[in-house]
Amino acid sequence: TSVLIICGGLSHERDISISSGHRVGGFLEDAGWQVRYHDMDSELLQYLSDPATRPDIVWPLLHGANGEDGSIRDILEMEGLPYIGSRAKASRTAWSKPIAKNVVRKLAGLSTSHSVTLPESMFRELGVGKVIDLLVDSLGLPLFIKPTMGGSALGCTLVTDAKQLPQAMVSCFAYGEVALVERAISGTEVSVSVLDIDGEPLVLPPLEIVTPNGTYDYDARYTPGPTDFYVPARLPATVLKATQDAALAAHRTLSLRDLSRTDFIVDADGIPQFLESNVTPGMTDTSLLPQAAVAAGYDLSDLYSQLVESVLR
Ligand code: DAL
Ligand code: MG
Repeated sequence: TSVLIICGGLSHERDISISSGHRVGGFLEDAGWQVRYHDMDSELLQYLSDPATRPDIVWPLLHGANGEDGSIRDILEMEGLPYIGSRAKASRTAWSKPIAKNVVRKLAGLSTSHSVTLPESMFRELGVGKVIDLLVDSLGLPLFIKPTMGGSALGCTLVTDAKQLPQAMVSCFAYGEVALVERAISGTEVSVSVLDIDGEPLVLPPLEIVTPNGTYDYDARYTPGPTDFYVPARLPATVLKATQDAALAAHRTLSLRDLSRTDFIVDADGIPQFLESNVTPGMTDTSLLPQAAVAAGYDLSDLYSQLVESVLR
């Protein structure tokens, strides 16, 4: 059986995708799978359809746009190829943070911070000062600014003073045309991964992230060392359970498949506040899903093999 890992792609998270793809591929090779790799490029379609190169199954490990917005999955569905991970339509829903927040709040009853979406054009139409006043009046401070679609915390800024807003917006709009402005929540940053193996959801223990300066930014994500991780998170058992239940509810309500990782801030009252669900969670050495799986005693070669086998069945 040949497994094709698609990684790379033209997104800001290209390097992370290559790293995730080769880590997963390495673990599958250790388990005896025949693994090949391909970028998301103009030759991919030919590669997928040519009988000489067509794989038996695909694991799309593209992060960011193309990988998580459903496009690669549309192609795989058109090609009739089995693949690991969520369907195109579900990916598209989860990829948009404001849509995902609404879905899990309304359909699963999860808590998520108050927010507004703000297109870049609004700044030009109303002027920077006016928009800042509106934001601070409606949501207060501190605020968390992020692109509505994106990953690895690129373009994200915590704003504690209204004076920081213009710069935060510039950073955000470098990665997308619409900003999600959320009321910032303080608490414990926790991430919960869910895997479906043969229809049985496996909810991994919540992983707690502690960064030296309090923000889990791009450098904190991919530079081994300064960030501390605790598995399970240092929270009461009831809160750990509530966080796992919330991750499973998000996975199901967003119709995610095979694997996902949902990120939360557990607030001062012990309530998990939904941030987002990732349809292609990072799989690098410093990424959260593999760390939680290893801490829970799973062997990654076994776990990834089981996932491939369950999709092939
Ligand atoms: N977007 C990165 C890859 C993550 O969520 O792990
Ligand atoms: Mg993400």
